[in-house]
Order: sequence, then structure tokens, then C-alpha cells
Amino acid sequence: MKSRPPVTDWATDFDHLDPRWIENPYPIWDELRARCPIAHTDRFMGVYLPTRYEDVRAIAKDTERFSSHRVVVLENMPPRGGAAPITTDPPKHQGAKAVLLPAFTPEAIQRHEPRTREICRELLDRVAGKPNCDAAIDYAQEIPVRLMAHMFGIPEADGAQFRTWIHELLELGITDPAVVQRATDEMTEYFRREADKRRARPGGDDLISYLLAARINGNPLSDNHFYGTLRLLLVAGIDTTWSAIGACLWHLATHDEDRRRLVAEPDLVPSAVEEFLRAYAPVTMAREIVKEAQIDGVAFKPGEMVLLSFPAANRDPAMFPDADRVVIDRAQNRHAAFGLGIHRCIGSNLARMEIRVALEEWLARIPQFTLDPGLPVTWSEGTVRGPRRVPIRIG
Ligand code: HEM
Repeated sequence: MKSRPPVTDWATDFDHLDPRWIENPYPIWDELRARCPIAHTDRFMGVYLPTRYEDVRAIAKDTERFSSHRVVVLENMPPRGGAAPITTDPPKHQGAKAVLLPAFTPEAIQRHEPRTREICRELLDRVAGKPNCDAAIDYAQEIPVRLMAHMFGIPEADGAQFRTWIHELLELGITDPAVVQRATDEMTEYFRREADKRRARPGGDDLISYLLAARINGNPLSDNHFYGTLRLLLVAGIDTTWSAIGACLWHLATHDEDRRRLVAEPDLVPSAVEEFLRAYAPVTMAREIVKEAQIDGVAFKPGEMVLLSFPAANRDPAMFPDADRVVIDRAQNRHAAFGLGIHRCIGSNLARMEIRVALEEWLARIPQFTLDPGLPVTWSEGTVRGPRRVPIRIG
């Protein structure tokens, strides 16, 4: 990422690409919640940042004033071409979402648990017994890549290519529209070849075949819709879950008491997963302001954007007592990590299963581990937050 003018005041000039935000955004949001609570910046062609849960919820639910046509904050106008359902508003959104739901029910996802467990075990076979590894590189990033390849019915070996596209779209592309266009075109071309194979041999049990056979009001998906949804599933299904698994392992490597407790009480894993999702929620989305709106005394200017920080909402002490502390058996935890309102994540069952299985398998095989003090931890840039390097000492 090229160097950027330093932030002068987080309330009036914030920048989510600032190294301080990338490293540790939580104190910044705490400060803003106490001071504003809605910040604004002229960067990125004008963006508002609500930091309270209530405000994030109000905006997420107001699809009339806050549109999903643009869901990423960029320095330039995005290239055209949507990714339904995430880039659609009502009434188009409903059909685009409904068509995907059957593939992501708890029952449909349960079918993928054995393969997820196998993937985790294969990866752990490669690191267990060694004195160190990188929990993000050797483990977290590989699990969703391999599982999504399995669900799409495409070779797991293409995983490295998927990660390149994701890095280009979600990190490099924020400041370089040509990169977004190229990655989008390459992904579309990739899926076109895969779809052609399935058109020649229909009836497969994979997500691409599923979408080829899908109908909305009796009609097949248009090409634009079909490829947009496939690109969305690839990006939404990988980077997010990889970030979440990495954040869980980073937390456990740095919080001995929680690590020991989870090893001793594995039944706590599901509630710990919810708490990690709350505290380290990876996904921030955006909305385009399409009509004047007033929230918390702030007038939102049409044409500008809102950074819809579900992670900041999850740290709001008005909603979560002791919000900055990770409490792995937190009883009340209605977190917003999967979004709020009509665009709530369709992959939540899948993501929860992957994170739970990843932790269960890791803790069973590597119960004792700490951060390697000699090597740096690094975090992603942009609106999906997660560790990209978590150097671990095993034992
Ligand atoms: C920890 C992992 C994940 C997190 C934190 C997460 C988070 C989110 C959030 C916050 C939204 C709402 C977007 C908005 O309001 O604009 C969303 C939507 C979505 N997610 Fe996820 N997600 C995760 C995993 C997945 C997976 C595994 C898939 C599928 C393979 C997926 C597919 C989607 C889709 C298709 C939408 C759009 C839904 C709509 O527009 O109605 N996500 N996700």
C-alpha cells in the first residue's frame, strides 16, 4: 500500500488504511464513540463512520436511504458490474437471496463437516511435531480455500489463484481501479470455463451446477447475475472465514487462560466462537447514501458513502457490557458480525461450522502454543480484518 497523508483527527479525517487503524482499530473506535459518535472523512470522496451499535443497525435496516449498490469504499468510482445479492436493493434483493438459501441451510452445511475436518487434519499433519509454524499461513488461510473449492467442485490446487484475486480485490483495489477490473475479468473468465464444462455435463452436485439450474420467477439467472454471484461467493466465503480462524488462534496464542480453558472444556468452543466473532468481527461493509438522512443529529449527504462497521458495533459498551474484553462464555451475545437487516450473511452456518471444526481440531492436536516473539504478527488492510501472519511456537 502506498504511503498516505497521516490522519490529523480521527473524527473529521479518518482513514481505514492508516497503519494505526490496521494494527489496532479498537481504541480509535472507542474514542470516536465517546466523542462523536459518527465520524466523517473527506478522503475516499466522502465517508461517514458510525461507531454505535444502534446507528449501525439503523443504517443497515434503512435500504431506502442507504443503498447497497456500492458496498466498498474506494478512492475512485468502482468499475460496473454487480455481485447479487450483496450489491442489490429491494425489490431485486429478495429473489437473488432466496435462490441461494437452500444451499446454505444448517442441513446442507452439515454435509460438508466431514470434509472440513479432513482438511484440518491434513494441514495439522504437516505442522504437528514441528517446533513452530504460522497459524495464519499454514492453517487458517488454507481451510476456507480448500472447502470452497470442494463446494464449487473445482481443484483445490487453484487456491493460490483465489487468494491472489482476493488480495487484489479487497486490498490493492481500494486505491487502484484497474486492479479491480482485471481481477474481476479473470474471475469471470475462470467461472465461464467451469460453467461450460457443467453445461456439457449437467446434474453435478456443486455450487456452480446449482446456480446453473437455479431459477428466479421461472427464469435462469442472467450472465451478469450468475457470474456476479459466483465471484461474490468466492470472495465472501474465503477471506472472511480465514480472517476469523486466524483471529481465534491469535487470541488463544496470546491469552493463556482462555487457551487452557478451551482445551479443558471443549464444549465451550461454540460459545467461544461467538465471542471471537463479536470481538474480532472481520467484515465491514459500506453503503451509498441515496437520499438525505438524519441519524444522531448528523445529516448524511447523498452521493457520499457510509462505512458500516459491524466490528465497531460489536465493541459498543451500550450493547455489550465489558465490550473490549473477550469473555469466552459470554451469555448474551447478539453480535452483528454477520450483519444486520436484509443482507445478513447467508454463509453464517458454514462459517460457524468451519471455525468450530478448525478450533476443535487444532486444540486436540496442538493444545499448547504461544506467539513466537521473534517474528511479527501482521494484519490485512481494507474492510476485511484478520491476521495474515501469526507466528507460533508449538509446545
Ligand atoms: C466469519 C465469516 C463471515 C463473516 C464475518 C461474514 C460477514 C458478512 C456480513 C457482515 C454480511 C452483510 C453484508 C452487508 O450488510 O452488506 C455478509 C453477507 C454475505 N455473506 Fe458473509 N460472512 C462470512 C462468511 C461467509 C461465507 C462462508 C459465505 C458463503 C460462502 C458468505 C456469503 C455471504 C453472502 C452471499 C452475503 C450477501 C447476503 C445478502 O446480500 O443478502 N459469507 N457476510
